[in-house]
Amino acid sequence: MEIHLAPTCDASPLPDWMVLFILHVEDEKPIVPTATPAPLREIVDQLHESGDLPTKKGELRKLYHQTAPLAPRVLIVCVGSKKDCGPETRMRAFLTAARAVCEKPDRTVTWILPDCSGGDSCREEQIVAAATALEMGPETQGLYQKERKKYPYKSATLVTDQRAGQAVEKGQIVGQAINLTRELINRGPHEVTPESFADRAGQVAAEANLQIRILGDDQLEQERMHSMLAVGRGSAHPARLVVLEHRGAGDAPFIGLIGKGVTFDSGGLSLKPSESMKTMKSDMSGAATVLGVMQAVAQLGLPVNVRGYMGLVENMVSGDSYRLGDILTARNGVTIEVMNTDAEGRLVLADVLCYAADDGCEKMIDLATLTGACVVALGEELTGAFTNEQEWLDELLAASKKSGENIWQMPMCDSFAEQLRSEVADCKNIGTRWGGAITAAKFLEKFVDEKPWIHLDIAGPAFRTESKPYREGGASGVMVQTLLQLLES
Ligand code: BES
Ligand code: MN
Ligand code: ZN
Repeated sequence: MEIHLAPTCDASPLPDWMVLFILHVEDEKPIVPTATPAPLREIVDQLHESGDLPTKKGELRKLYHQTAPLAPRVLIVCVGSKKDCGPETRMRAFLTAARAVCEKPDRTVTWILPDCSGGDSCREEQIVAAATALEMGPETQGLYQKERKKYPYKSATLVTDQRAGQAVEKGQIVGQAINLTRELINRGPHEVTPESFADRAGQVAAEANLQIRILGDDQLEQERMHSMLAVGRGSAHPARLVVLEHRGAGDAPFIGLIGKGVTFDSGGLSLKPSESMKTMKSDMSGAATVLGVMQAVAQLGLPVNVRGYMGLVENMVSGDSYRLGDILTARNGVTIEVMNTDAEGRLVLADVLCYAADDGCEKMIDLATLTGACVVALGEELTGAFTNEQEWLDELLAASKKSGENIWQMPMCDSFAEQLRSEVADCKNIGTRWGGAITAAKFLEKFVDEKPWIHLDIAGPAFRTESKPYREGGASGVMVQTLLQLLES
């Protein structure tokens, strides 16, 4: 898709859709962008008079066949009220608009962006968000349907007084990264296996010019990653560890992004009930997020050193599956008594975190659909964050404020680690029934070699059960924007 910037709407030819973003003001006329053409302004006034103007966050009005010089179709989007139009609200409005008018192939659109109150940086962020939304909006989870329900735009014009061409490119790169993450998660577990995921990462690396290392069974054995290997042993598809590297800052230390990549989580011998197993193709969301971020980091040429580590296994049942009572020795020598084969994500991450620490990563962030308990605690919208170093997390929280993705910090009290004591090994892989998201984080902490580390439990937001006007159901691509924001700063 081509995206252009224009200072006014009068560029010919007319687009298929003209999209106008307005802000609601209680008991007054709405705030309409300065660049709104006079005839459209009149229509807005009329709709306001008759009480037909959208006034709620994300509310839409479609108008057809207004007289020239307007486009044949006009979409009016209420972003929200003036006071509450931060990054999250703005992105919702943009995604709603992008999803609303792409039901036919090759559509052209003109977006009349809201005026920015916050100066140049606000304007630039707005263009980035608009381009991201235009890339994301038409992509759905209907990957296996004969006919598409939404089609990529042919071209878009953003009407704004800003001439930041780079913001457009950046937004498109971010949107495409999120789409890559979403696509991998949305694809079925019959085709997304550790090997095929690693192959796809190989393609991404070649296209984006990233260094890549792929470790198979033998190398994982050599690297003493017995905890991760045990999880994958019951599967017909052998495990893989993929490492992508972007060196944008010479000899500076590396930041490590570590993703849980369980391509399907049956629970293993601690088998999940069908209801909980239905969405377990999404248990590689952490790894897919890391891949998306790495693609964008390389395409943006960010001046940072980052490595992405994707621990890929399938948790299945067979005569050779790992068992309850098995003692596993992780890469750092810590022995683990397996008390539940469904607490497999932490066994994968244990080895991958050790590997990343040994690989010279100075700071680490892991992403994982780790616990149902985190979804119980925080719901489907929030990412749970855990850390052993508050300043490092504060940086990430600041980035999330800018990206509009919600993160909530969780405690790391030592009492939870006590639950992991074992009579026969250094630790067990599960605790009691309560506070399971925290116990899981305390388990991971044993494997980070005391490096500054953040654990993000994305079990809630990574995969959505239903579609909304502002978002497609299925994979969300959550945290791609926040991580890119962090790496950029
Ligand atoms: N992949 C699941 C966690 C999960 C649950 C992700 C719901 C997304 C939605 C993880 O491997 C798991 O099964 N965790 C167990 C841990 C328990 C056995 C201690 C859980 O949450 O029940
Ligand atoms: Mn599990
Ligand atoms: Zn899992």
